[in-house]
Amino acid sequence: MVEINNFMKNVLLMTLSSNRQEWIAYAAGCLISYAKRDTYVRENYNFLQPEWRSDCLSHSDFLDKLVEADVLGFSCYIWNQSINDDIAKKFKTINPEGIVLYGGPNVPEGESYQKEYEKERPWVDCFFTGPGEKTFTNYLKNGSTQKFVHGTQLESHELPNPYLDGIFDDVLSQIKNVSVAIETNRGCPYGCAFCDWGGQSQSKIKRFDVATVKQTISHLLSFPGVNRIEILDANYGIFKEDVEYVEHIIEEKKNKNKDNLLLTYAGFAKNGSPNVTKIMNLTLDNFNDKYRQVKVSFQSLDETVLKNIERKNISSTKLHDTVAGVKNAEISSELIIGLPGETLNSFIETFEKHIDMNISFARAYPLYVLPNTLMTNKEYKEKHKIKTKKIYLPTDLIYKKIDNNYNEYITSDKIKTKLSKVNLSEFTKFELIYESYSFNLKELTKIFSFWYWFNTFYNTGILKSQIKNNNKDLNEQYHSFIDNLKNMPFNKKLFLEYQNIVQHIYKPEDEIFIDNLKHLHWLHKNNARGNEVMKIYKYKELFEEEIKLLYPNFDTNHFSIIPDNKLHLLTESVSTVDNFVL
Ligand SMILES: C[S@@+](CC[C@H](N)C(=O)[O-])C[C@H]1O[C@@H](n2cnc3c(N)ncnc32)[C@H](O)[C@@H]1O
Ligand code: SF4
Repeated sequence: MVEINNFMKNVLLMTLSSNRQEWIAYAAGCLISYAKRDTYVRENYNFLQPEWRSDCLSHSDFLDKLVEADVLGFSCYIWNQSINDDIAKKFKTINPEGIVLYGGPNVPEGESYQKEYEKERPWVDCFFTGPGEKTFTNYLKNGSTQKFVHGTQLESHELPNPYLDGIFDDVLSQIKNVSVAIETNRGCPYGCAFCDWGGQSQSKIKRFDVATVKQTISHLLSFPGVNRIEILDANYGIFKEDVEYVEHIIEEKKNKNKDNLLLTYAGFAKNGSPNVTKIMNLTLDNFNDKYRQVKVSFQSLDETVLKNIERKNISSTKLHDTVAGVKNAEISSELIIGLPGETLNSFIETFEKHIDMNISFARAYPLYVLPNTLMTNKEYKEKHKIKTKKIYLPTDLIYKKIDNNYNEYITSDKIKTKLSKVNLSEFTKFELIYESYSFNLKELTKIFSFWYWFNTFYNTGILKSQIKNNNKDLNEQYHSFIDNLKNMPFNKKLFLEYQNIVQHIYKPEDEIFIDNLKHLHWLHKNNARGNEVMKIYKYKELFEEEIKLLYPNFDTNHFSIIPDNKLHLLTESVSTVDNFVL
């Protein structure tokens, strides 16, 4: 049971993890750390242990906290919005007088987006946009007459530190296996049109002081349960101290015998830097990373597309210099599918450049219009003739735990939602672009179809060496696959199934309610991939017979090395956890 001081109000803050991995509630901790500097707040509010568990509703200690709370605040992200809504509604039935506060990147700034967001959530008392520390503290002291309050960025000397304040000490001492996020600076000086990072933190980089960062690292690594540190900076390696921090983590890892500690990064300095090469080598040499992959974020390699999204990528010379210094590592990339300016040709060109740069794996995400990005602007949409639709993903399917069972992947389209459209808060909502000046549904389907080919045959390794060492370029190889589908009924079926999913999801219309696990997985879990690899495995003889028409020296041994109990790795291997983002 939680102890209550009768004169004080209890505040419960929630930063719920996605259901893939549990993270300490860092954002909530920052709000508390900042707010507690204020005497009035300290004297009038009692902060309960912030919550992070995605399945908190099934824990009795959480339900106890919910009953005790007078103020309930949420950090809202795409992945936790619908579960937050669910908990907030429950809270209001338990405590109708209780206050509900929403902040985080999913709370929109634009007026039309705000109207819709507020209308769908009548239980919320106040919404915070932008950085939340000052606005949250101010709300606790003075309340608010406005429904939406916009926050400003903190100066370096004001940045909070929940770890050194001891906010998580109790919980870190108890958990056996937990990931923690730290910042060494805040903000991103770039403003890519699709990204809410530059948008929300409004650009200027504010740095924590070096001694504090090192102290934070030592403090965190003194807890045996901490098994992963992620550095949240948008441009890690931009400062020379960034190398020192990694060295410090390595030293503490050795001192504390944390052999299995993982170190991951949210993003590396966009323009490359010798620091980045050093950091990558240090990380690859000292942490247990069996993949030895360096991840480079491109989004696109087409000049027109990059101009449209207001992004400048690292030059290929600099990329070469940065990556050439990294020993024995494979390079993987990050791309976005469906950016304005993209066509089938420009998209294939991007992958031709991948082959030239010897990139061994590409991740590509379908484009979402995220709240608080340039892409939400009416003018931006008009300029690029962008048309969007709302996609509603049912919460019951998002949180449905299917074990890594082959048959469930194959039959997942039969698993249906039980929700009705009446209650919109039971759905997670996304905005997708289905048309821009450079593509309509027909062209977009072609773009995705090429992605199908590259992902299925190159990324997974099934035909990687054949594709790479072919005397035909990707364009020719892809088109000969398409032209030969008439002779390959098994491949044709898989390909058409994939195209059907694309055409269903991207059909020009204002909204779509996803109602089965197959479509949900394609969008949400598998990032524009279907079940094709699993099906190819299941019918490998059939596949082999057909694909030999195009690649006579196809290596069938590829399949025999995967034992049945490792089958699920086939799908996981195409979505392994991020390591380096450049
Ligand atoms: C956390 S972001 C890191 C971005 C990184 N700082 C950079 O400059 O590219 C990770 C990846 O998510 C993808 N991503 C970000 N915003 C997206 C959006 N609106 N739609 C689809 N994918 C997106 C991008 O591929 C991006 O590289
Ligand atoms: S994509 Fe990366 S570089 Fe661009 S604004 Fe976002 S965080 Fe900054």
